Amino acid sequence: MNEDIEKFFLDKGCLIEEKAIEEIEKRGGLEYILKNEKKIDFSSPIFAISNLPSINEFSIIKEFHLDGFPGISDNFVDIFKSRYSFLHSKLNETSKNHFFTQISKLKKGNGPVFTSGIVSEYNESKRGYGIVEIEDDSTSIKVILPKSFKDIIIKDEVIGVSGQFSKDGTAIFAENVYRPEAWKETRESQTSLKVMIISDIHVGSKNFLEDSFLNMIDYVNSQGISFVIINGDLVDGIGVYPDQESDLAINDINLQYKKLAELTSKINSNVRVIIIPGNHDIVYPTEPQNPLPKEINTMFPSNVTSLSNPVWVEIGGRIFLLYHGTSIFDFLESIPGTTMNDTGKIMIEMLKRGHLAPEYGKNLSFIPLKSDYYLIDPVPDVLVTGHVHSHSITTYRGILAINASTFQEQTSYQRMMNFNPKPAIGTVVDTRDLSTVMVQF
Ligand SMILES: [Fe+2]
Repeated sequence: MNEDIEKFFLDKGCLIEEKAIEEIEKRGGLEYILKNEKKIDFSSPIFAISNLPSINEFSIIKEFHLDGFPGISDNFVDIFKSRYSFLHSKLNETSKNHFFTQISKLKKGNGPVFTSGIVSEYNESKRGYGIVEIEDDSTSIKVILPKSFKDIIIKDEVIGVSGQFSKDGTAIFAENVYRPEAWKETRESQTSLKVMIISDIHVGSKNFLEDSFLNMIDYVNSQGISFVIINGDLVDGIGVYPDQESDLAINDINLQYKKLAELTSKINSNVRVIIIPGNHDIVYPTEPQNPLPKEINTMFPSNVTSLSNPVWVEIGGRIFLLYHGTSIFDFLESIPGTTMNDTGKIMIEMLKRGHLAPEYGKNLSFIPLKSDYYLIDPVPDVLVTGHVHSHSITTYRGILAINASTFQEQTSYQRMMNFNPKPAIGTVVDTRDLSTVMVQF
């Protein structure tokens, strides 16, 4: 097979590199070359992987776009209604033997009841029982959790419970707690594409690791990478926190993007680069966030595509859910004992709840929309976050969860917080089997 490809290229007057042969074999061998002959330029004496035609097409599954600027409103009723309705249905879809009923339709008396609702309150009794108040669109009820239940309850998440009514009918003594978990059946994709996943570049910061970023680009250009995902905080921005000026090497946000555009133009043009904004980018800070504005997008080469935060895309037969990850700090505050190095654990907590950011009213502020954009729907094969400047690769119920590394070394703020980031690590995902490779740059 190898010899056939080699001979074909020799007949065309060029020597082919070993890596290009490997890539052609992945795409279907000599047959692929014959089908795509017209698209291939045989003029260079040495044929490299970068001379192969682009196969890096991807599709957008779900993207956010808001016309204009988000208004100010405190009407979040629609978000919660859509959250309850979707996750209640999900609990019923995944449950084999029982049906979760609306709270107001439960029959009081002997016998088990199944219901679900949004957690509006959570307390612990002196005797160590968890007591939650759950509500749906009809009413609310108190639920006393079993003493054996040691899992974490987060405000505004949707849970299902089964149990018995108390004698006076004002509370349910729960026997089991159910969650609308996101999960995927393990399977192989027919397409093998390598996707480089990174985040939090912070161009413009004095701590931006430019040399490591350039090493990452060399790797992408030489190792058959088809996609690069940059998961937010593309630049350091201006005025994101008090006295930021003293940490900046470039103190004009347009020039920060210009510098990033110059750097990304060094990536081979047949590699598709997907960028989304984060909390440091030139988009409003509430979420979901629009893609970068047009005047910034036009600075970038044509192989760079700017999308919203969060966004769902399909690459090589796999759904990638890209979320910058601002809600991670809300999870950290609500889950005792977790640290910024527990991003894998926190991403599992998201998947368990079928939601990227259940808790309302903490660090993250939302745009009041008609529906809840943060439901994990559709369920991705790969969930990507960044934001924390840590790094983790975890698998949960068939879903690969990656907290992507940064290209900013420890800042003075992180030093003060005693946090050691894990910078300059690329995570390469193969879409065929979701295997990963970590590369330190
Ligand atoms: Fe960041």
